[in-house]
Amino acid sequence: MLCGSPRMKRSNSKVLLDYLEYEIGCGETIKRYDMESFQSENLRNCDVFVIACPLYMDGIPAKLMSIMEDILNRGIDVSKRDCRVYLIINSGYYNPEVCKTAIALFRTWCNECGFILSTTVAVGAGSLVKFLKLSRGMLSQTGHAITLLANDVRESNCSGVMLTKPHIPQRLYIFLAHMGWLHMARSNKLNRKSLKIKYTDI
Ligand SMILES: Cc1cc2nc3c(=O)[nH]c(=O)nc-3n(C[C@H](O)[C@H](O)[C@H](O)COP(=O)(O)O)c2cc1C
Repeated sequence: MLCGSPRMKRSNSKVLLDYLEYEIGCGETIKRYDMESFQSENLRNCDVFVIACPLYMDGIPAKLMSIMEDILNRGIDVSKRDCRVYLIINSGYYNPEVCKTAIALFRTWCNECGFILSTTVAVGAGSLVKFLKLSRGMLSQTGHAITLLANDVRESNCSGVMLTKPHIPQRLYIFLAHMGWLHMARSNKLNRKSLKIKYTDI
């Protein structure tokens, strides 16, 4: 499993991977990597490769992209082992449909490398996963999708693309996100007015 977030231990991707690992159960041999510890050679003997990453600019983080390029350039023959790739992509936006370009990018990469792209979970409003339980309540849809993903990983299945979002109105999510940004601004000694300054001379 690779946590493809530059925020590593503090990331929402890690929370989602922790939940997936818990759902897969301890009977399986799972190796966890972040982008510092991962090496392409780790894939030589692997049957399943799970990547969890955030959506960055409708794509994926540059560091993850360079890891993917390295895997491709090394030409590691994963097709002999029928190695499957499972994905969890989380976005800051409420609607998980925004992940479609990133999913297309992974699909092209899997085809080039010889991986079998399997179940993908696209999580909308990913920033909530650190604050709420995935097993029930507002994020139960996301929790359920990860449980299905865990079953697919165990049984080498593919359920296609699952899109999940929280059980709260989009407007409320946007309001909460704005509160979060204001809180962060204040903790950086900025106020509401200073956030509206436009730097036109750049
Ligand atoms: C540089 C950067 C670019 C981002 N671009 C997008 C984006 O295009 N669409 C989106 O929905 N969220 C975007 N986000 C928000 C992240 O996807 C979101 O905060 C995610 O939950 C972070 O996950 P992580 O903690 O696993 O890194 C961006 C965040 C950063 C830091």
